[in-house]
Amino acid sequence: MIEAPSRSAMGSTGPRRKGIVLAGGNGTRLHPMTIPVSKQLLPVYDKPLIYYPLSVLMLAGIREVLLVTTLRDAPRFRDLLGDGSRWGMSFSYVTQAEPRGLPEAYLLGEEFLAGDPSLMILGDNLLYGARLPEQLRSASEEPTGACLFAHRVNDPSDFGVVVLDEGGRPLELMEKPVDSPSPWAVIGLYLTDGDAPLRARELAPSPRGELEMVDLLGSYLADGVLRVEKLGRGVTWFDTGNPRALLQASHFVEVLQERQGLRVACPEEIAYRMGYIDVDALERLGRELGATSYGEYLRVLAREERDGGD
Ligand code: TTP
Repeated sequence: MIEAPSRSAMGSTGPRRKGIVLAGGNGTRLHPMTIPVSKQLLPVYDKPLIYYPLSVLMLAGIREVLLVTTLRDAPRFRDLLGDGSRWGMSFSYVTQAEPRGLPEAYLLGEEFLAGDPSLMILGDNLLYGARLPEQLRSASEEPTGACLFAHRVNDPSDFGVVVLDEGGRPLELMEKPVDSPSPWAVIGLYLTDGDAPLRARELAPSPRGELEMVDLLGSYLADGVLRVEKLGRGVTWFDTGNPRALLQASHFVEVLQERQGLRVACPEEIAYRMGYIDVDALERLGRELGATSYGEYLRVLAREERDGGD
């Protein structure tokens, strides 16, 4: 995920695509940790969980992001992220009164989207892989229809699953199948065109009382405009919704960072590498973080860049 392109390689000419991070929900599987605070503000090793999905959007070339939060936690997200300008980004906020399902984000975000296509990511998904940003950017170039991202898993019975034909085209979507005919789990990352709010409005709540993403994607599938991007074995995916996965994600980030000396999902670094901020801004952000190893990392990076890069 941290493998941003070199600054000179940037400058996508694709359609203007906006981002949505779904950071509401109750986080009940993480109780009691999430009784006082949102799951997406919990730490994954050295930074808040929400930095990871935000980094994915930034690496996909997206600069305008809507954060969907609970009413209770909205002020904390604003404290942490502000309006995004420090990272050369633009963050907007909307609150979701109850977790009424993922597609509700398109209804809450209709004004923000203003008919533009979007990339939505769940606030508790962590993705890491060298070629991921490139894959996301190239999948984003198609402005119409929808695209889901699928990852091979051992036990698909816990996930939404997509059944593919021999050409990798989607045949069927299934929610937590007992005996899955497909190993391809649908991860929490969705590209949709400007029709998503219209389609979301037509959905009926499922028996559990929520609007279901599988139904929204199903509406694109029924119209023959759903694509699937398979994430290869070079991409690691964590849904950090339970205590074990949250801990494993922390270990994963720690191991990678210690080995390579590079930070995973460091939005300040990504903002610099994507050309959203300049080296002075990067250094300033490093100074603001004071005598932390995070701040030191940004300051060293700024110094190295001034000295001619690595
Ligand atoms: P889930 O993991 O399905 O739900 P949750 O986070 O409330 O956790 P739990 O099942 O333990 O109660 O949600 C996936 C992501 O989507 C997570 O980042 C929260 C977010 N979400 C919303 O923002 N709004 C919603 O209506 C739902 C269902 C989820």
